[in-house]
Amino acid sequence: MGMKVLVIGSGAREHAIAHTLMRADSVDEVTVAPGNPGMRLDGIRTTELSTSNHAALIDFVKNNGYDWVFVGPEVPLIEGIVDDFADAGIKAFGPSRAAAQIEGSKDFAKQLMIRHGIPTAGYHTFEDLDLAETYVREHGAPIVIKADGLAAGKGVTVAMDVETAMRALRDIFVDHRFGSAGAKVVIEEFLEGQEFSLMSFVRGADFWPMPISQDHKRAYDADKGPNTGGMGAYSPVPQIGRDVVDAAIETIVRPTVQAMVDDGTPFTGILYAGLIATVDGPKVIEFNARFGDPETEVVLPQLTSDLGESIDALLHGGTPTFTWNTSDATLGVVLASDGYPTNVVKGAAIPRIDVDANSHVYYAGVAQGDDGLIASSGRVLLVECSAPDIRQAQRKVYGIIDGLDTTGMFYRHDIGAKALK
Ligand code: AMP
Ligand code: GLY
Repeated sequence: MGMKVLVIGSGAREHAIAHTLMRADSVDEVTVAPGNPGMRLDGIRTTELSTSNHAALIDFVKNNGYDWVFVGPEVPLIEGIVDDFADAGIKAFGPSRAAAQIEGSKDFAKQLMIRHGIPTAGYHTFEDLDLAETYVREHGAPIVIKADGLAAGKGVTVAMDVETAMRALRDIFVDHRFGSAGAKVVIEEFLEGQEFSLMSFVRGADFWPMPISQDHKRAYDADKGPNTGGMGAYSPVPQIGRDVVDAAIETIVRPTVQAMVDDGTPFTGILYAGLIATVDGPKVIEFNARFGDPETEVVLPQLTSDLGESIDALLHGGTPTFTWNTSDATLGVVLASDGYPTNVVKGAAIPRIDVDANSHVYYAGVAQGDDGLIASSGRVLLVECSAPDIRQAQRKVYGIIDGLDTTGMFYRHDIGAKALK
């Protein structure tokens, strides 16, 4: 008999994780808490339990005989859900509360990198508006302003001029736009180069890197508009050479997971390194303690081994096997509600989307309406296609999306363009 698995979360990332587990021979049943109604189109079960109600989730796992749990999003990880499951005798894949600080506190991540000589942008932390303003005036632009703590990828301003930097500081300190996440601000050196995401399965000092991918963080075409959670992604990233990826593995991922062990906060789960390929080699712009979204939706479709078996092995001290389809490219484009990320207008009707066996629709912010699914938050869904190269994958995705009635939603038209220059 195959395994029964619970996935925590509700986005397109969790849809991709659940779908990949569903196609694993080792897994019979996948439930997502709370999930979304779009996932049910793939035979994935959902249960309306909140990701913050750890006690209810523990009861649910115990009462329904789940073999283990996969935690998707950062918030429950940072709130210690893996520790709480462990205390209840349940195996959950993801970092402990202590290890999840690598994402939860930019200051924690930066100090770890500096202590261990891991290449990253130079930075200063401020808790006071005047001192921060003085620093920006002295250093000039371009400069990067980040609210410390979690702001769902939206607490970052890449300021190309001093005025924009000053406005970002006032947003954080005076208008408290990011709530308590804005009590501290990290001001960072601007790194120039192409961005890529390197995610790895990690257990202590051992890690298994995945194919790299590239996200598109800005809301509009040509990297215009505000930063979002991510508007689309593709994988692999041909303009980032193997030498750069190897350098990232050796100078960033390996020393980081070793540092977490040495510092007494060993990391188990998915370590996401957000990197910039600078002229001086790859440097870290952020770590996340979980799968990236939308990166997961273009990376996991390349997995040819059994994800259930591998996670089970990682949780039980065994040796996992990860194999990837490296001959095809995958590309995914997000449909977002109008106004995302600042003033989301919910309620768009979601059309039926027909795709072939090499394509998939991963749902995020959707609710069940009277006549089908309706948009219920910023990022609504992602359409992903695999093809022999990025250009063909891109054509295929836009061939699907351009033909849909997307009233009330928008999407970028240039996902993958940087790979095709
Ligand atoms: P983060 O939430 O830290 O990933 O930042 C969001 C986005 O801002 C990143 O994906 C980058 O595009 C950009 N960014 C962040 N930090 C830097 C930096 N130090 N230099 C240049 N761009 C940055
Ligand atoms: N796509 C960026 C993130 O997941 O944080």
